[in-house]
Amino acid sequence: MADFKSSTIYQVYPKSFYDSNGDGIGDIRGIIEKLDYIRSLGVDYIWSTPFFVSPLNDNGYDVEDYRKIHPLFGTMADVEELIAEAGKRGMGLMFDMVFNHTSTHHEWFQKALLGDPEYMDYYIFKDGGADTPPTNWQSKFGGSAWEYVPSLKKWYLHLFDVTQADLNWENPRVREELKDVIRFWKDKGVKGFRFDVVNLISKPEVYEDDTQGDGKRFYSDGPHIHEYLKELVADTGIGDMVTVGEMSATNLENCLRYSNPDEKELSMCFNFHHLKVDYKDGKKWELMKPDYQELKKLFETWQTEMQKQNGWNAVFWCNHDQPRIVSRMGDEEKYWKESAKMLATCVHMLRGTPYIFQGEELGMTNTGYSNISEYRDVESINYYHILLEEGKTQEEALEVLGQRSRDNSRSPMQWDAGTYAGFSESKPWIGIPDNHSYINVTMEEQDPDSILNYYRKLIQLRKQYAVIQEGAIEFLYQEQQEVFGYKRLLGGQELLVVNNLTGQEVVLQTPVDCGGCECLIGNYQKEVSGDWLETLQSYESVVLLKKNLQ
Ligand code: GLC
Ligand code: CA
Repeated sequence: MADFKSSTIYQVYPKSFYDSNGDGIGDIRGIIEKLDYIRSLGVDYIWSTPFFVSPLNDNGYDVEDYRKIHPLFGTMADVEELIAEAGKRGMGLMFDMVFNHTSTHHEWFQKALLGDPEYMDYYIFKDGGADTPPTNWQSKFGGSAWEYVPSLKKWYLHLFDVTQADLNWENPRVREELKDVIRFWKDKGVKGFRFDVVNLISKPEVYEDDTQGDGKRFYSDGPHIHEYLKELVADTGIGDMVTVGEMSATNLENCLRYSNPDEKELSMCFNFHHLKVDYKDGKKWELMKPDYQELKKLFETWQTEMQKQNGWNAVFWCNHDQPRIVSRMGDEEKYWKESAKMLATCVHMLRGTPYIFQGEELGMTNTGYSNISEYRDVESINYYHILLEEGKTQEEALEVLGQRSRDNSRSPMQWDAGTYAGFSESKPWIGIPDNHSYINVTMEEQDPDSILNYYRKLIQLRKQYAVIQEGAIEFLYQEQQEVFGYKRLLGGQELLVVNNLTGQEVVLQTPVDCGGCECLIGNYQKEVSGDWLETLQSYESVVLLKKNLQ
């Protein structure tokens, strides 16, 4: 399998990828049927979000059995075939390990509910009167993070939905159980793992009210986190596999440790700071235009420090929890193609491992749902009600959801312009935007200038040029807010990447000397091999290679 530093990773959300049996829900056989498509992108790994047995209150992030496949998605034989068929095409599967919590339907929690002390110690139960939760911590999906169990006269912690009970990692038996899960999937031939909200697993010794916030400062990157990760990796022998931790509200210092190879923790981390630059006062449910200066600063800091201190970033815009990037930071109408390609260029030429979320490579947009009944996501529905309680009108609340809901990325993959976008033969579990009439695989396959073919080219360039994989990074145009520019340097080669983040033409404060340059890729079909590059068109991206520098 390819080294993670030269790889590109494709994320599949099975429920919305491809429905092979016409029940309106994507499934494992659907992924198998589309493996040639995924392969055609040139990616090395496929990360699939969970398809294990689950009540699906959080679409599978509420796991009831880590070793069994939910019948809606298929069978163990299907999963084995998926792993084998991907392998034949030179791609490795990465599975999603949700180890911060289990579903309350998990047999461990069911035993705990019956008062079995052994299993109660698998979770975080605290005493407290029926009216007063142990702390004021808030669930990330809204409301208290504690739920009272009258029969036990105790509260249990759930940082997410009430049906997602947090595991007690201080209990060594819990850690052993989870290591066994890793071994199980490793033996099946899985080539890597994504660890869900893994920096939340180590809780503080003392549970106290957070007078400054919702509690996250007590348990994010908690006291034993590095120890637990080292132990998990060492005892399961996954140190050579590709591993990525999803890090909630983390910081640079910790991510440097998580991803530094000497620490033997993870290959890389997802952090989300760059995806909060449009949160007003840091609040997801309050709208604001993106602060591009802040965005640039965050990329610069994280990239530069990771390089200095031998860490490694996952680089990405999209996943199943984020709105679509072209709607968020580009212009999904007038400059749909240009801005989608520009945003892709911004991250694909960075130092790190790029991730592509299904449909991103087509320039898929936010869904544009106009009624609350169209939403499926537990977080979105909870927050809709919270927003109404806070005094917003229905229209205002829907406007916020329209921009922030996780369902924006969970609508079905748009395969063609036909009914249900070629995703299924029956009505899908969640609605499809009308724009599948022109944003779809079939049409973009035929258009050499499509967003799809642009992504293919970006992926291929990373394979082809060591400077994209390993080159040192230096940032340019720090003072010019509209321009995101950087250089990558390796052994006499210099790669120059300039992106116009706006819909207006910009004059570069420092023109680029293109003498002796080769243009590797750009989203406007024009020759940039002249002498100087002085202006950039709306959302223009240019990537230039200079060779044989002295
Ligand atoms: C992660 C997942 C998200 C899920 C949450 C709780 O953030 O990506 O989809 O809801 O963890 O498991
Ligand atoms: Ca199906």
